[in-house]
Amino acid sequence: MTIEELERKFQDRIDAEEKIEAKDWMPEEYRKTLIRQISQHAHSEVVGMLPEGNWVTRAPNLKRKAILLAKIQDEAGHGLYLYSAAETLGVERDSLIDDLHSGKAKYSSIFNYPAISWADMGAIGWLVDGAAIMNQVALCRTSYGPYARAMVRICKEESFHQRQGYDILLSLSRGNAAQKRMCQDAINRWWWPSLMMFGPNDAHSPHSAQSMKWKIKRVSNDELRQRFVDMTVPQCEILGMKLPDDKLKWNPERGHYDFGEIDWSEFNNVLKGNGPCNKERLADRLNAHLDGAWVREAAMAHSEKRARRTA
Ligand SMILES: [Fe+2]
Ligand SMILES: [Fe+2]
Repeated sequence: MTIEELERKFQDRIDAEEKIEAKDWMPEEYRKTLIRQISQHAHSEVVGMLPEGNWVTRAPNLKRKAILLAKIQDEAGHGLYLYSAAETLGVERDSLIDDLHSGKAKYSSIFNYPAISWADMGAIGWLVDGAAIMNQVALCRTSYGPYARAMVRICKEESFHQRQGYDILLSLSRGNAAQKRMCQDAINRWWWPSLMMFGPNDAHSPHSAQSMKWKIKRVSNDELRQRFVDMTVPQCEILGMKLPDDKLKWNPERGHYDFGEIDWSEFNNVLKGNGPCNKERLADRLNAHLDGAWVREAAMAHSEKRARRTA
């Protein structure tokens, strides 16, 4: 078969909603796009543990601490499923991790913002995990089988993450004046970065059209962002808090909330590595990797020993 015939057959399968599996023929660009997207996603799960890890020892009580620990462990698991999914495309996990540590690979910019109060654990769970779910629910139907299946499992855990975050804010919003202030302050700081998580506006999203055609991406950035806003506004009302956007208003004609313009210069600046915590996060990640070297060595030694014994 010629390459054109292979490509046509491939697109026919996508159009027929068939899943593409690891051993199937696929265009090189499809493979590359997936490796980039899945590894970026894996890196985000892993780096995402860092701002929350800082709060484990400062959680206000044992129950909150246990919940936060479980949530952070889930994120490590998400990273592992996703690295495995990326490996089915013929890349080595070590090389993906090297790219993260060298700064060549990206992770979600949201994790370059600081978590400065306990309320941030609530705002991260509610808004950041909430935005992640919006994206990930759509990815459960992505065309690449191993990625889609990883997402199904991840989404179940993400909804627990979102609820635990909301529950933290609900407690604070019913607390004393200082707790209410803390709650509002965290929402003020995390709202706009959460909206940025969906990426550039559709008109400025260079890879989107091809990804939509290949059904890697099923819903556009702007549509996902709108769904997130529509879902979050009523939840914020229950908290009795305010989202920091004067333009936020229900539009009965559209059947959606209108909202203000995102500060794209901030988005691009953080993306370029100049956010408040970019350097700190990368350094912490690298140190965590180096600290874990003995675990990896011990696991290798154990597996060699077992292989020798069976031989
Ligand atoms: Fe996650
Ligand atoms: Fe999560």
